Amino acid sequence: MANVTVIGAQWGDEGKGKIVDWLASRADAVVRFQGGHNAGHTLVIDGKVFKLSLLPSGIVSGTMSMIGNGVVLDPWALRDEVEKLEGQGVVINDDNLAIADNCPLILPMHRDLDGLREAAAGKGKIGTTGRGIGPAYEDKVGRRAIRVCDLAHLDSLDPQLDRLCAHHDALRAGFDQPPVDREALIEELRDIADFVQRFAQPVWKRLKKVRKAGAKILFEGAQGVLLDVDHGTYPFVTSSNTVSGTAAAGSGLGPNSTGFVLGIVKAYTTRVGSGPFPTELDDEVGQGIGERGHEFGTVTGRQRRVGWFDAVIVRQTCAISGVTGIALTKIDVLDGLDTVKICTGYRLRGNVYDYLPSHAGEQAEVEPIYEEMDGWSESTAGARSFADLPANAIKYIQRVQELIECPVALVSTSPERDDTILMRDPFVD
Ligand code: GDP
Ligand code: IMO
Ligand code: MG
Repeated sequence: MANVTVIGAQWGDEGKGKIVDWLASRADAVVRFQGGHNAGHTLVIDGKVFKLSLLPSGIVSGTMSMIGNGVVLDPWALRDEVEKLEGQGVVINDDNLAIADNCPLILPMHRDLDGLREAAAGKGKIGTTGRGIGPAYEDKVGRRAIRVCDLAHLDSLDPQLDRLCAHHDALRAGFDQPPVDREALIEELRDIADFVQRFAQPVWKRLKKVRKAGAKILFEGAQGVLLDVDHGTYPFVTSSNTVSGTAAAGSGLGPNSTGFVLGIVKAYTTRVGSGPFPTELDDEVGQGIGERGHEFGTVTGRQRRVGWFDAVIVRQTCAISGVTGIALTKIDVLDGLDTVKICTGYRLRGNVYDYLPSHAGEQAEVEPIYEEMDGWSESTAGARSFADLPANAIKYIQRVQELIECPVALVSTSPERDDTILMRDPFVD
């Protein structure tokens, strides 16, 4: 059995979608296991651009795609995305898409609450995607969620709605908002139910079957380890566990099935939303990297913050997530720089740290210690073999590998699917 789990090893947007799409042609099934439509995964195939938020990136290549129970599902966002992709010629039907019937739903009240809280937080806001992700996960662990399987039982939803609305109405009152309009909600759910139910099934059972048949399964993570609710830069994180271990709990296959853990790592660092970012650049160098890398969010269009490669945090996230090897993406964005810097440690109140401490105040205060290397003037864009890379780019990749204590399995040199250098096949290793 050779399965692969793909996770983001920084603050998201590392290029997971591109790599999952590339690997999907070698896989028999692709499974999303956490997050929701806060994710924004961009795929470029022969110049054609596909943007996915909720659907597994494997759907574009026609690979069997599943949304596991660990995902929070906005049924209206699902319908919009399916329709958008169908408009681009992607075939989506109940043969190639399965949705776990125990997925909690994101409802309009979750989006409301996300927005109300962010607006009230002012400068202290998290900078969420406004998709209702946090409130939906809160209701899941609070045992109040309406789930996909409930869509088949809308006539007996009242007791569940009583619990859910009692909670939300109290919160809404605190924001001077009217109570949830239950009639309207039921109507909206009736309108969408059939669409979702086409795909609903016990995904764990489907996975058990394909696993038994020897299928290669690709688990597709969203966000990145630094946005993990336990291991990330709390409280400036998302509301799910984004680490590789979630692939098991969020899909319904055991931890012995997650296989090769492929950490996706950008050759520099970006972050969207608030929170600590030790190597952030607010000069022309950062601006130049951001422009060359088109660092604007897929979901919200927000400009991403940009900084040098931080080997401290990637070493940490690779350890936390048991990363077997990394895919280093967007190396081409560093082309043409005279020098490049890598953060190798932090200074905090006279002490040197080789890890990012847990306390938010300390995370905001650490000062990066840099190592400087010569850049390269040659282009790496579109390179498909390691031998085509300039000597200084190779030195950079080797230094990254050394500092993060984890081998490089793939290098990505452009947004295009096939502009990818394979050094170690995750499905074979
Ligand atoms: P994800 O959320 O991890 O899937 O990443 P996003 O899709 O949000 O952001 C990554 C962006 O970089 C997308 O626009 C990709 O098309 C693009 N991209 C991916 N790999 C490369 C690469 O190697 N080079 C360049 N220049 N762009 C890339
Ligand atoms: P992909 O899968 C980058 C960030 C938001 C915010 C924080 C919480 O494309 O890598 P949320 O809406 O989840 O409650 O927001 O997490 N965030 C992401 N940043 N990439 C993502 O996904 C993200 N999903 C959420 O910007 O800071
Ligand atoms: Mg993204």
